[in-house]
Amino acid sequence: MKFFVDTAEIDAIAELNDLGMVDGVTTNPSLIMKSGRDILEVTKEICDMVSGPVSAEVVATEADAMIAEGRKLAEIAENIAVKVPLTWDGLKACKVLSDEGRMVNVTLCFSANQALLAAKAGATFISPFIGRLDDLNLDGMDLIADIREIYDNYGFDTQILAASIRSANHMSEAAKIGADVATAPPGVIKKMAEHVLTDKGLAQFLKDAESAGIKIV
Ligand code: E4P
Repeated sequence: MKFFVDTAEIDAIAELNDLGMVDGVTTNPSLIMKSGRDILEVTKEICDMVSGPVSAEVVATEADAMIAEGRKLAEIAENIAVKVPLTWDGLKACKVLSDEGRMVNVTLCFSANQALLAAKAGATFISPFIGRLDDLNLDGMDLIADIREIYDNYGFDTQILAASIRSANHMSEAAKIGADVATAPPGVIKKMAEHVLTDKGLAQFLKDAESAGIKIV
């Protein structure tokens, strides 16, 4: 499973990128707002750092305007994936932009039917939002499983990009189901390294090393 980082914070992306953990980046207007930076400027900086797809989201709601924004965003760098919402106009924009050879990430997906439409419209990525479904006491992972089954039934190339990930558990669940990509905040990716038994075991080893006077360099 590929890892995308869900943030527009340059330092956080750089830290994970240096570790080889970054296959791409996703942003959205809320994350851009949080960064306090200009969208074109910060997105360019991310694209210069990361070689994989960098999603930048349109803010228009009508297809023609989304297409114009998508083309402008795509001028930033070759690795831009234009992010459009899963509305009827978003699907129209997806079809035009993907026919032009651009990567398109269709976002705000909450049902298998929406995912089916995005694949038909030529989406490169479909972004089902796990956490926001969980917030409604629904099971976001069920949606990932349904989309996986449907895409496999018909051999759609659209990649399932599990989004709105809130926990390390979401990452392993998405990987088990077969999401192609998961996008998570940097803190969640770092959390994946943690285990209470690792901490406990290490504390004991360090104590014993001290008692034995072990010194390596
Ligand atoms: C990514 O593409 C999405 O915009 C993001 O994962 C949404 O996450 P949230 O539901 O935690 O805001």
